[in-house]
Amino acid sequence: MKKIISVVGARPNFMKMAPIHKQLLKHKKKVIHKIVHTGQHYDKKMSDVFFKDLGLPKPDIFLGIGSKSHAEQKALIMIELEKVIKKERPDLVIVYGDVNSTSAATLVCTKQSDDMLPAIPVAHVESGLRSFDRSMPEEINRLVTDVLADYLFVTEPSGVRNLQKEGISDKKIFFTGNTMIDSLITLLPLIKKSDILKELCISEKNYALITLHRPSNVDSKQNLSKVISIIKSINNISPNSDIVFPVHPRTHKMLEKFGLTKELTNIKNIIITEPLGYFDFMRLVTTARFILTDSGGIQEESTYLKIPCITLRENTERPVTAELGTNTITGLDERAVKKFLGQIEKGTYKSGKIPKFWDGNSAERIVKVLLEKI
Ligand code: UD1
Repeated sequence: MKKIISVVGARPNFMKMAPIHKQLLKHKKKVIHKIVHTGQHYDKKMSDVFFKDLGLPKPDIFLGIGSKSHAEQKALIMIELEKVIKKERPDLVIVYGDVNSTSAATLVCTKQSDDMLPAIPVAHVESGLRSFDRSMPEEINRLVTDVLADYLFVTEPSGVRNLQKEGISDKKIFFTGNTMIDSLITLLPLIKKSDILKELCISEKNYALITLHRPSNVDSKQNLSKVISIIKSINNISPNSDIVFPVHPRTHKMLEKFGLTKELTNIKNIIITEPLGYFDFMRLVTTARFILTDSGGIQEESTYLKIPCITLRENTERPVTAELGTNTITGLDERAVKKFLGQIEKGTYKSGKIPKFWDGNSAERIVKVLLEKI
């Protein structure tokens, strides 16, 4: 019997892992799959609710690390995870996306241990994405993970090109698609059953959906003020639309710190909520009139659902969403945002196409490769 461990820690990891877990269960005579949760995200609304909505079992091991500085958080994950790896000696570890837990776990596994035991092979799901912006903590996590991991599973063609340019052998690169989209496709019937529209008293296609949590947008008072001004301008272009904004804990903290909470809550038509579970949030995505975001995953989910998405960042590591999908990168340029919102109102905004292999079968392709390798 082979043993695979998935290491996850933050909200976006969970939907990327769920389809892999389900696929591995189909091979339970050959392989046992254990889940290690680092505790990078720990609030019920940032973690437990996702395990429940995604049909995941409770993690086998919970490291309970919590929020710390980047160095402290990664160091503590490494210390605790090393103990787990020494005890479990898995045949493979799978890491997901680009969060601190991803790179910390990769560093632990890919190094031969002190007692000369061989390194543990690592598979990286959502490999090869690059924003080419090293001020983003996620970009550092991607670079570290990809240079060390053994099997690199890529979601879009740019990922393959980036890895090749970095000199990574083709033998390690597998273009298999997007497991987060697998989760979306599988769970769409349940997502549609969410009552969140009724609860918020809003109607389909008559609300904008906002999500913001990037340090570059929310950790500076100047940029957070610019973002609030952009949100305000929605009322000029789309005066009858509601504006739904589930606020991430980081953003909540910063709004309070900079004394900007009132300015946000006073915006006409705005509905502020706590972070939402997977079903409720994705229900909002499916019939939003448009989305304003700085999230990575939402650029992809909106592309799959063909919902217009304006990304308040200077760059994206997911260029296929802008080249082929419904995403547009505007940064904090209010004039550009208004221009595209105008197009959405007039019905002239691009309609988008679904990228290759975003078809619900990515986890199956990944697990097929992994079972051949271990
Ligand atoms: C992390 C990831 C980011 C991902 C995001 C999704 C890194 C470097 N960043 O950013 O890539 O897009 O998760 O949400 O890994 N907090 C809570 N409860 C929680 C978790 C966090 O209140 O359960 C608060 C804490 O005050 C913390 C802050 O949110 O200091 C930020 O959390 P952290 O995990 O450091 O970064 P995120 O901004 O969530």
